[in-house]
Amino acid sequence: MTQVNPTTTNSGAPVASDAHSLSVGADGPLVLHDHYLVEKLAQFNRERVPERVVHAKGGGAFGTFTTTGDVSAYTRAALFQPGVATDMLARFSSVAGEHGSPDTWRDPRGFALKFYTSEGNYDLVGNNTPVFFLRDGIKFPDFIRSQKRLPGSNLRDNDMQWDFWTLSPESAHQVTWLMGDRGLPRSWRTMDGFGSHTYQWINAAGERFWVKYHFTTQQGIENLTGDEAAQLAGSDADHHIRDLHEHIEAGDFPRWTLSVQVMPYEDAKTYRFNPFDLTKVWPHADYPLIEVGVMELNRNPANYFAEIEQATFAPSNFVPGIATSPDKMLLARIFSYADAHRYRVGTNHQQLPVNAPKSEVHSYSKDGAARYSFNAPDVPVYAPNSVGGPAADPARAAESGGWESDGEMVRTAATLHPEDDDWGQAGTLYREVFDDAARARFLETITGHVGGVKDDGIRARAVQYWTNVDAGLGAALAAALRDAGLPAETGEPATASTPVA
Ligand code: HEM
Repeated sequence: MTQVNPTTTNSGAPVASDAHSLSVGADGPLVLHDHYLVEKLAQFNRERVPERVVHAKGGGAFGTFTTTGDVSAYTRAALFQPGVATDMLARFSSVAGEHGSPDTWRDPRGFALKFYTSEGNYDLVGNNTPVFFLRDGIKFPDFIRSQKRLPGSNLRDNDMQWDFWTLSPESAHQVTWLMGDRGLPRSWRTMDGFGSHTYQWINAAGERFWVKYHFTTQQGIENLTGDEAAQLAGSDADHHIRDLHEHIEAGDFPRWTLSVQVMPYEDAKTYRFNPFDLTKVWPHADYPLIEVGVMELNRNPANYFAEIEQATFAPSNFVPGIATSPDKMLLARIFSYADAHRYRVGTNHQQLPVNAPKSEVHSYSKDGAARYSFNAPDVPVYAPNSVGGPAADPARAAESGGWESDGEMVRTAATLHPEDDDWGQAGTLYREVFDDAARARFLETITGHVGGVKDDGIRARAVQYWTNVDAGLGAALAAALRDAGLPAETGEPATASTPVA
């Protein structure tokens, strides 16, 4: 017979009953000194941490990243040296939906990675899209609110979404992605991932490069149709979490190939469009993919809350050999995430096993709520000190990245390059990447979405927005809306958002 452990309180003392509260007689009142009842109810009341303000619904798994190529000419990062295998964690998510929302709503998907490297944790917090809706982080809270719920009715609202998008023309490329087939991945296993931003790599000689990360699914791209996604949203809201969990459980481990595009440091100054603009991709003809390695997910979390809900991914977690670029979105994110984690999980979130680095920590941080690890008593709590405490070593540090900059403090768009505009790459995606069938599905999707807009002026701006992407597309949308009995004039010609004025 298997031995059954006695139930204990959180402080380890055996409890008298799993089923009965302490009462005055069988039918009498409960007593306050039933501290086990109080502990159980109080713990229950505190079971949730705040959900992520975005990307609240998600799931993930642990795995290994193995560097199979040789990119040591571009980065000294320990994890990307030939043959190195690094433990890692991935979390996939939708963006706008809340914690219980269906996995299959049309949305970008988060692709957040944490590599437990020998020189500290490296987090790459990307999406399944190579671009984003915005190019300055100051607009991010407004954007997210427009995608979430109306304050009064608590309903999501097409008018808000299209009002924001059409007044933010830099969104056109990402909205084209979103309304295309890849806006509804069949599973997290069957989508690609991207670092999206341009990052900086630094090699052992201190030479700098600009890079973009591409994780190509080895399972092949598979998407859902709109009808399949809508049906699954009702019948299996956790479709993507289930798919990942079941495949890993069955030993069918998903894999992605990591490649990078590398731009020589000097090229950025004269490249035909601003290479730090998150709404743009770099054509592969200009900067081809260079293979780096393979990511395999092979272990399900043993506890969803401890290892996925409390996982904290931060774009500020760089390691030596990898640094930021001048992308204004990335610079805003470098502040935002660590701040979110201090609020959502707590100031000592990096001490939780899922977040703790596997390399040694010698930091001067101390105390704070729920402190778990601490320095030996003989380690000083201040720097500088003359008693052998840790000392910063700039040669080993991650901060060798940087770029030249000088000028007045200004609030302005980033410097325009000759081919910078908002509509061009969206049009290329529609005309040259989508095939006829994909273009037909795309028109059906945007007709449905824009058709949900109640305000004639916003709908007219949406027609103009798609006319700017492709004149034929705009005309087809207007015709389809009219067929559905909706006024569909073109709106005010939307001006590009890139000019400074
Ligand atoms: C300046 C713009 C942005 C801001 C201020 C921002 C802010 C945030 C915040 C506060 C969270 C919740 C973090 C947490 O509570 O753990 C989050 C999650 C996330 N964001 Fe962003 N975000 C921005 C842009 C982006 C972009 C451009 C991408 C992708 C390219 C992205 C990908 C993600 C992902 C994948 C997560 C979920 C991470 C996880 O799985 O825990 N975000 N973002």
